[in-house]
Formats: sequence, C-alpha cells, structure tokens
Amino acid sequence: MPKILVTGGAGYIGSHTTLALCSRGYEVVVYDNLSTGRAEAVLPPARLEVGDLAETHKLSALMAREQFDGILHFAGSIVVPESMTNPVKYYTNNTNNTTNLIGLAVKHKIPSFIFSSTAAVYGMPEIVPVTETSPLDPINPYGRSKLMSEWVIQDTHAAHPDFSYVILRYFNVAGADPGGRIGQSTPKATHLIKVASQTALGRRDHLKIFGTDYPTKDGTCIRDYIHVTDLANAHVLALNHLQAGRPSGIFNCGYGQGYTVREIVNAVKKVSKVDFATQDVDRRPGDPATLIADPAKLMQTMQWQPEHDDIEEIALSAYLWESKL
Ligand SMILES: NC(=O)c1ccc[n+]([C@@H]2O[C@H](COP(=O)([O-])OP(=O)(O)OC[C@H]3O[C@@H](n4cnc5c(N)ncnc54)[C@H](O)[C@@H]3O)[C@@H](O)[C@H]2O)c1
Repeated sequence: MPKILVTGGAGYIGSHTTLALCSRGYEVVVYDNLSTGRAEAVLPPARLEVGDLAETHKLSALMAREQFDGILHFAGSIVVPESMTNPVKYYTNNTNNTTNLIGLAVKHKIPSFIFSSTAAVYGMPEIVPVTETSPLDPINPYGRSKLMSEWVIQDTHAAHPDFSYVILRYFNVAGADPGGRIGQSTPKATHLIKVASQTALGRRDHLKIFGTDYPTKDGTCIRDYIHVTDLANAHVLALNHLQAGRPSGIFNCGYGQGYTVREIVNAVKKVSKVDFATQDVDRRPGDPATLIADPAKLMQTMQWQPEHDDIEEIALSAYLWESKL
C-alpha cells in the first residue's frame, strides 16, 4: 500500500485523517512538533516522528529514508485572533514552512500533495453558497498565509507537472471520531461546538454569542459545520484521485447547509441535557454574517458523500469527547 507523510497528524483533523488512512491500509508516518497536537492522538499502526517543519534537514532525511508516495499537509498555526497580533508567526509557520515542504517534495519526487486550506481565503463573501471560483479576499494574516501557500502549490505544479495537488478549503470543522478514540484536544480552541461543550460541562461560566443583529433568521451568524470524519474521508478520496492520475484542483469542504449560532447552542444543550448560560455581546470584527460552502465540485469529482451530516450527531460526538478530556 502507498506510504503517506502526514504533517500535523497529532492534531485534530490530521489525527482523524490518519485514522481513516490506516483503516484503508495506507502506511502512515506522522511528522509533528506537538506544539498543539498530542502524541496519544497518533494511533498505531501509524508511526510518529517528532520534529518541526522548520527542521528541513531532518524532514529531508525522513523523506529519503521512507520514500513517501504522498504528503497530507495539516501542520500549521490556526488561531485567527493570534494571527492579527503575531502575523510573523503565521507567515513563518504557514507560508514559509509550507514553501520549504513543497521544495522538499519536489526534490524527493513525492508526486501527490494535499493541503489544508480554509474558507478564510474568501474573506467576507457577498454571495453564498461560496464556490471555488468566488473572489479570494482574506481579511486576516491567517487567511492570507493560507492563500499564499495555495499560490506556491499552484506555481510549483505549473513548473513541475509531476507534482500534483489537491487543495481542500475547509469550512467549520467539528465533531469527533464516532468510535470515541480521538477528538479535538487543541488547547485554546475557539471553535463554537467545542466551547459550547466545555460550557455544558461547567468548564466555562457562560458562552458568549458575538453579534445578534446580523441579517439572518435569528440575528446570529450562520456557518457550515462539517463532521471531521467526513472531512477525513474527503482526504482519502483526494489521495485516490491524484494516485489515479486525475487532475490537480481546489475543492470546498462543507455540506452546503448552514446553522445559526443559536441553533448550534440549542443542539449542544439538547445532546448534553444542560441548559447552560449564554451572553449576547457585540459583533467581532471580520465575521461575515453567513458562510456556507457549495460542495458540488467535491461531490461530483470525487463522489464524496457525507455520512455524518446531522448537527445533533456532530454536537453529541464533540460533547462526548469533551467529557472524556
Ligand atoms: N479546525 C478547523 O476548523 C480548520 C478550518 C480550516 C482549516 N484548518 C486547517 O487544518 C489544519 C489542521 O488544523 P487542526 O484544527 O487540526 O489544528 P491543530 O492545531 O489541532 O493541528 C495542527 C498540528 O500541526 C502541528 N504543528 C504546527 N506547527 C508545526 C510545525 N512547525 N512543525 C510540525 N508540526 C507542527 C501541531 O502540533 C498540531 O498537531 C491547519 O492547517 C488549519 O489551518 C482547520
């Protein structure tokens, strides 16, 4: 079976994708500096190599030794507010380190590269659902660091056609492994369903709802929540797609269905059976009212079919994982 390098595979999405790859017989080596990831999230038979993307000699030696057939690149810094106070960290870890990794992939002739991008590259879209050809206008260093990485990937493919890629633009990733083996353990995570679960468990006094005067059905922001296991499966399909020699491309990952913040809060209250406190506060700068993916390209090109697109299932899996932590 093909051997795959998964950078950031000790983190939330990378660990779920590693699980999906291993269950289909892929051999996986995770490369992670454990800055936000956890060694326990890398389940055997996947192997963990602890290292930083900036350690290019170490990474190059690993590639020479293992002869990978593909790279899934999850490693990066992901907190939007932090990217505004410390942009250099984001351009260094997301853009520079991705550029170095791509250079090594070309040098070691690793043919398939799958990249974790984000809906943040669209900024504040005027038209939803958002398609892959919608205008790209990221409004924070996190989104810009990811868009620049996308350009490096595309330019490298143009110069080296044997380097093929799939860029996956994730919308709001949520939930946990339905088998309860892993979940989101990222410290300081700001994701709504995780924070709501923490509030239901009494680890926070209350949940802040940022903005209640948006032009939506209940005044709160609408987002497209995708179960992490469905997203992991999209990565496996993307890898199969490239290995079958099909064309490189960019794909949105979401369900094409949005929920308001209040609907999410109610879903977490329902599955946890806890009527926790919320507080309505002002809007945060840079939050679009509605962000929903058009996933038609992914569904048609890769025959991707969501299997966990039920908001209560997503909320329950996240809550059960949070209660284990
Ligand atoms: N979580 C989301 O909703 C979301 C949405 C859109 C895009 N993404 C992207 O998905 C990817 C994974 O996100 P996540 O939620 O799993 O985050 P995470 O923080 O749980 O995982 C990131 C992993 O990368 C590792 N890492 C970071 N910098 C590294 C470096 N320099 N060298 C080696 N390892 C390093 C961390 O230790 C961690 O294990 C990121 O690239 C992120 O930008 C996430």
